[in-house]
Amino acid sequence: MALIAPSLLSADFGNLARDVRMIDQSAAAWHHIDIMDGVFVPNLSFGLPVVKAIAKEVTKPLDVHLMIVDPDRYIHAFRDAGATHLTVHWEACTHLHRTIQAIKAAGMRPGIALNPHTPVASLEDILGDVDLVCLMSVNPGFGGQSFIENTLLKIVKLRQMAGSSLQIEIDGGVTLTNAPVLLKAGADVLVAGNTVFGSADPAGTIATLSAL
Ligand code: DX5
Ligand code: ZN
Repeated sequence: MALIAPSLLSADFGNLARDVRMIDQSAAAWHHIDIMDGVFVPNLSFGLPVVKAIAKEVTKPLDVHLMIVDPDRYIHAFRDAGATHLTVHWEACTHLHRTIQAIKAAGMRPGIALNPHTPVASLEDILGDVDLVCLMSVNPGFGGQSFIENTLLKIVKLRQMAGSSLQIEIDGGVTLTNAPVLLKAGADVLVAGNTVFGSADPAGTIATLSAL
């Protein structure tokens, strides 16, 4: 069974409550929530009040992916808004070890996201401190982009480095076609935005992906 985290970035923001309830009642494992600041990535998404509103509607974990500079400033605010998992970018954290400890101390599960060009070897001395790594399989900032094939190699390398206890999440360009390959390479959690919300039957697509 694959863990599926539908990305709300592709939801209908005019009907956000409807869409998050659909995800909550589907076979999805987590809600994936993309926060963009227009600095770390060339796009803006939404902020804390929206996360708070989502949290009110759902019971499944909120997997918050911070694509922002200086995430330390907002750790407590996201915890208070309802985040259960807080993923920060390796590239955005000068003192990553400190950031990870602060997320844990705030009672959330920390994750580290790596941009496509950042080698998995960069995680060597921090892997023992997290049990979730998000490999970006597109350049972060936008939904609906194409999967970067080199990610497959990164999954295999990271799995070799980390052993079986690490959860490897893949974010960007996940489709019904490449999902089985990603899982076979060693991924556990698949984020899917366009594939879920662009389909005629989003809940059915989540069920199909999670049965892989
Ligand atoms: C990209 C975001 C992703 C995005 C995935 O910056 O981190 O979570 O929403 O969207 P798809 O699945 O459409 O590539
Ligand atoms: Zn994301």
